[in-house]
Amino acid sequence: MHVFEDFNSTREYSVKARNSGRWVGLVPTMGFLHDGHKSLIQKARQETDPLVVSIFVNPAQFGKGEDYHVYPRDIERDIRVLKDLAVDVLFLPTVLAMYPDEYSTFVEVERLSDVLCGAFRPGHFRGVATVVLKLFNVVLPHKAYFGLKDVQQLVVVRKMVNDLNLPVEIVGVPTVRAFDGLALSSRNAYLTPDERKDAARIYQALSKAKALIEAGERDASDIKEMIQEYIAQAPGFSVEYVSICSFQNLQELSSITGEVVIAVAARLGKARLIDNIIVG
Ligand code: PAF
Repeated sequence: MHVFEDFNSTREYSVKARNSGRWVGLVPTMGFLHDGHKSLIQKARQETDPLVVSIFVNPAQFGKGEDYHVYPRDIERDIRVLKDLAVDVLFLPTVLAMYPDEYSTFVEVERLSDVLCGAFRPGHFRGVATVVLKLFNVVLPHKAYFGLKDVQQLVVVRKMVNDLNLPVEIVGVPTVRAFDGLALSSRNAYLTPDERKDAARIYQALSKAKALIEAGERDASDIKEMIQEYIAQAPGFSVEYVSICSFQNLQELSSITGEVVIAVAARLGKARLIDNIIVG
């Protein structure tokens, strides 16, 4: 596996591959890889060759007082994981290379960035869209892979690709869950053993909501109330939002029709957990 820190080597590698008719894949990550990342990489491995994985903890998507400095990192272990998964290139840029002094250009995906998590993390999706576009411009992928756990991120990136006519196909990959349904996330590392047990309530609440919809319930506010109450039964949980919105444009729905996302964000101890289920 090649490990490139600089942009030129990465781009040259990709240009060569493209010129010889190969199909370049990219899995952008912030490292501390878990089985959720592995499933993205495995999907990308099946569909693309060569496969580039980037690891970059992107300061632009963390707000003031958020966990940028303590975000879990373990690059030695990540490299072993990537080698085992037969990844061709690890792109590992430095913060200074990505954001040199006086860096001043950002991508703003309006409306979609201000709802759900964006309402609680102002500037987060501006940081995500900016870094993803920069990664696309260096790696030049034909296809890029994003987890459905971060469904708003997927919708924002798709919109950016569409609006800016970027020649990249965005692939959404299903959420990978632990034995009790908790969505895998690097931030689960912040949970204490007791919090870890309670954390499964989010997926349990989402599954109950899905069952209600499948049984014919159409009133979004009743379902949201049920989710909120079910999660809040565990002391220590503080629910940030429960949303039932359109998968296409994240618009909040009062009555459930079509393909909808039921999404939750909640704080538990030091962790901010997000999860969702897509129904219909
Ligand atoms: O989902 C993530 O890990 C990050 O938001 C991403 C897409 C790598 C951008 O920094």
